[in-house]
Amino acid sequence: MNNQQKSLIAYSWHHASKDPEKLGRQFYNKLFLRHPELAPLFPKDLEAQQRKLMESISMLILGLDELDNMLEQIQELGERHHLVYQAKPEYYTLFGQVLIETIAQAANSHWSDEIENAWQIIYQLVTNSMLMRINKDL
Ligand code: HEM
Repeated sequence: MNNQQKSLIAYSWHHASKDPEKLGRQFYNKLFLRHPELAPLFPKDLEAQQRKLMESISMLILGLDELDNMLEQIQELGERHHLVYQAKPEYYTLFGQVLIETIAQAANSHWSDEIENAWQIIYQLVTNSMLMRINKDL
């Protein structure tokens, strides 16, 4: 991930996340509309969930220059998703498609193919790290 891609991610997130509560709500609404089978895996009260996801994306973007330092935390997050939350690796693809689409819609004119590509890369990086320890167990 080069500096240009990091800037594009920060720029588009800045515009997309002006109203993080709304963005979080839009994401889960879209996810469950498109993949109703995922809904039972999340807590019934989604408010905290929406907030946690938005906050962790913001934190991740602030730390893009020190992604290596976050690796341990990201791997632990992945372990919890595997052992406790029952999130299967194939769900991550569905989650990512809807997440990036929701951010793109919210970013509106502050979006481009290049920005989309940068988000795909960061999402792959994060979810590959989340799955790293799990794949070792298989
Ligand atoms: C469809 C796949 C997924 C399912 C079913 C799932 C499910 C869950 C559940 C049940 C929780 C705990 C909620 C709570 O008890 O408060 C959670 C927390 C969280 N999830 Fe996911 N998740 C999925 C994918 C992802 C992905 C791909 C990411 C990141 C890119 C992510 C990031 C987080 C974060 C940051 C938290 C809060 C921190 C924590 O509780 O450890 N989730 N998820």
